[in-house]
Amino acid sequence: MIWKPPERIRHQLPEPNWPTRQEAAASRLFSPLDFGNLRLRERTWVPAMVPWRATEDGYVTPEIIDWYERFARGFPGGLVVEATGIRDVPSGPLLRIGHGRFLRGLRELTNTIHSTSEGRSRLFIQLIDFLAVRRRPEPDTYFSRYLVLTEAHRKWLENHLDRELADDEQVRQAFKELDPDLYPEVLTRRELESLKYGYRERVTDMDLPHIRDLPRVLPDLFADAAARARDAGFDGVELHFAHAYTMASFLSTRNNRDDGYGGSRKGRLRLALEILQRVRQKAGKDFVVGCRYLSEEIIEGGSTVEDAAYYGVELARAGMDFLSLSRGGKFEDAAQPKIGAAVYPYTGRSGYECMPTAISDAQGPFGRNVEPVAHIARSIRDAGLATPVVVSGGIATFDQAEAILQRGEADVIGSARQSLADPDWYAKMRLGFGDDIRRCIFTNYCEGLDQMHKQVTCQLWDRYALSSPHARRSKDGKRRLTAPEWDSSEELEEL
Ligand SMILES: Cc1cc2nc3c(=O)[nH]c(=O)nc-3n(C[C@H](O)[C@H](O)[C@H](O)COP(=O)(O)O)c2cc1C
Ligand code: SF4
Repeated sequence: MIWKPPERIRHQLPEPNWPTRQEAAASRLFSPLDFGNLRLRERTWVPAMVPWRATEDGYVTPEIIDWYERFARGFPGGLVVEATGIRDVPSGPLLRIGHGRFLRGLRELTNTIHSTSEGRSRLFIQLIDFLAVRRRPEPDTYFSRYLVLTEAHRKWLENHLDRELADDEQVRQAFKELDPDLYPEVLTRRELESLKYGYRERVTDMDLPHIRDLPRVLPDLFADAAARARDAGFDGVELHFAHAYTMASFLSTRNNRDDGYGGSRKGRLRLALEILQRVRQKAGKDFVVGCRYLSEEIIEGGSTVEDAAYYGVELARAGMDFLSLSRGGKFEDAAQPKIGAAVYPYTGRSGYECMPTAISDAQGPFGRNVEPVAHIARSIRDAGLATPVVVSGGIATFDQAEAILQRGEADVIGSARQSLADPDWYAKMRLGFGDDIRRCIFTNYCEGLDQMHKQVTCQLWDRYALSSPHARRSKDGKRRLTAPEWDSSEELEEL
């Protein structure tokens, strides 16, 4: 079950009022941005989206190249390649950059995109680290294999059963026979969570040596990955400090580590700054290094926009080339997965805030992130810093994008799902063909596929599947793997 606002108001798409070619040419959206290492030909941006097309061991596939090539043909100012794992460990079909052997495929990807865009789009790759998340177990399996038995468990069960339990085997058997309503009385909150949701590591698990060591190992892991990204021909990297992953958890107000990397705002930010410093050392001063982080976590006791403003100022001061702001997308409020499935961070309220749908509350799904991002951008400017801020979240018309830029609420407009629905949409606006735009209807069909780790497609493309024999098909043969073509090669020549 994915969380939806209880109001369940169905919102229509806003009237688009697409620009003429002249209006587009005079707009801020289609004006260049030039800041430090970051040079964009226009202020349009395709944020990271995992399409689940890598091999089982994390290599680039022809389908990945097709996917990004299709976006590049819409000539966005910035195009961010999906969250890519920085460690050399099995990560399922997540794209990886944790070893030199991944470079060949990544090089092929950058070569293709650069030649398709002819230098008009800057290509970045999002670098991610994440902690272990296990599938929700069968209760019997949990009690026989995973639960670490303690004296407290034994005592409680013996007391409850009014008999002695001779060994661990008997304790485990007693657990299996226990009325589930009594689990909260005998299990700790964490144990209960592992049973109901699957075991999940936290950055605050200081009893685990590899978690305690994160501040020691992460700077080099990110820096080596960034150096590889440079080698592979990317124009820059986006450090993934957002959503449910390791670095977002360091920034979270829920991070109470007592080793200098938690607690106060300064402590929570420390590792992010150390990573940036090491990335600069290894990838070079002239390489674009930005990050994505959260304007608000939107979970109980989570970071607020004031935390994000502080982080924004300090990250800008430390030399980030851009700051891309997302929101929500956390594990803490995620829905309970089915037995055998893993908890997914976009199923709770915070997940809704990250990718809001057309069925919403009174505020609606469009531009929910703009107000907090404007506050963060203002704080950065008030500190005398000009670091570009990328905003995303339900931005899908020219008027909306242009107004955000004109009011100075952000410097670059990120549109993920609208770009997925129609990768040519920026080019169509720029050339005065707004009426040809295939508009995202914000149903999150794409996100449902993402959740199941199935090849992501847009429901609006699928109806073109049979009429287009050239399109690669999904594994079940029913869906196109890339968006239908825009029959406009002549217009695109003029871009
Ligand atoms: C299929 C899919 C995959 C996504 N993968 C990522 C990702 O790898 N990294 C990330 O930071 N955000 C990811 N996102 C979130 C988007 O980048 C974006 O923040 C979100 O969709 C809200 O923007 P939108 O309203 O323009 O779609 C993903 C979104 C979708 C729909
Ligand atoms: S599947 Fe739905 S939400 Fe996703 S891009 Fe297509 S129209 Fe938009």
